[in-house]
Amino acid sequence: MDVRIVASAAEVAREGAAKVAGLLNRLDDTVLGLATGETPRAMYRELVLAFERKELSFAGVTSFNLDEYLGLEPGSPQSYRSYMQRELFDHVDIDPLNTFLPFCEAGQHPDEVGPAYEAEIRRRGGIDLQILGIGRNGHIGFNEPASSLGSRTRVKTLTRETLASNRRYFGPGETQPELAITMGVATILDAQEILLLATGESKADAVRAAVEGPVAAMCPASALQLHRRVTVLVDDAAASKLELADYFRWVDEQNRRLESEGVEWNRS
Ligand code: PGA
Repeated sequence: MDVRIVASAAEVAREGAAKVAGLLNRLDDTVLGLATGETPRAMYRELVLAFERKELSFAGVTSFNLDEYLGLEPGSPQSYRSYMQRELFDHVDIDPLNTFLPFCEAGQHPDEVGPAYEAEIRRRGGIDLQILGIGRNGHIGFNEPASSLGSRTRVKTLTRETLASNRRYFGPGETQPELAITMGVATILDAQEILLLATGESKADAVRAAVEGPVAAMCPASALQLHRRVTVLVDDAAASKLELADYFRWVDEQNRRLESEGVEWNRS
């Protein structure tokens, strides 16, 4: 794992955006795996600004989001479709027909959504870079603790903790779905490359369990230890419980020095 510890959430956003921009500028057609939530919001803002400065284009991008609530209309302000439109899609040149979320259409059985979603990901050549946040309980997507590490896209029941943490997005009287459709852990691990973002002290335990804990379904993010190309990009607060924080900083310093000397370096 390439663990990069930076000084602030703003720096996480800038570095994350630079990584995405680098990929978009390197590949003609890029398939991005996207995440919602508080954490990637500032990174999307950086990407929109870069687009406005004409430093990158989303014209060749296809995107697959990690998850979507089951039972919300796509137009509902709390849906992850609305989030993506608001935070990114409405401000860049991505073709709306190339943006996918695991949404259950009217009349469709929820169990059919996952296999169809996975087939579409395969049809598009697989995900080049998957962006992830991490829940305080170690979830990635809505793969809650005890999710199978071999899971594929499917319906999941959210934990009470996740529901409580996301309640702030729902006004009084608005129904908060307790079910969602999420990429599975194995779906996420299929991506060529993974970028996990975490900021703030409330994520420090989860980051530690993901990076330094045993690989265990109790912390689904720990499955990332099995992937060859993962960057864990965290601010000081989210890194504050890492036993190896000094080592990670030292390695990062070495890698940055090598990169500044033009050495091609596989950081993973
Ligand atoms: P957050 O959510 O970015 O809103 O903290 C992350 C997650 O639950 O995956």
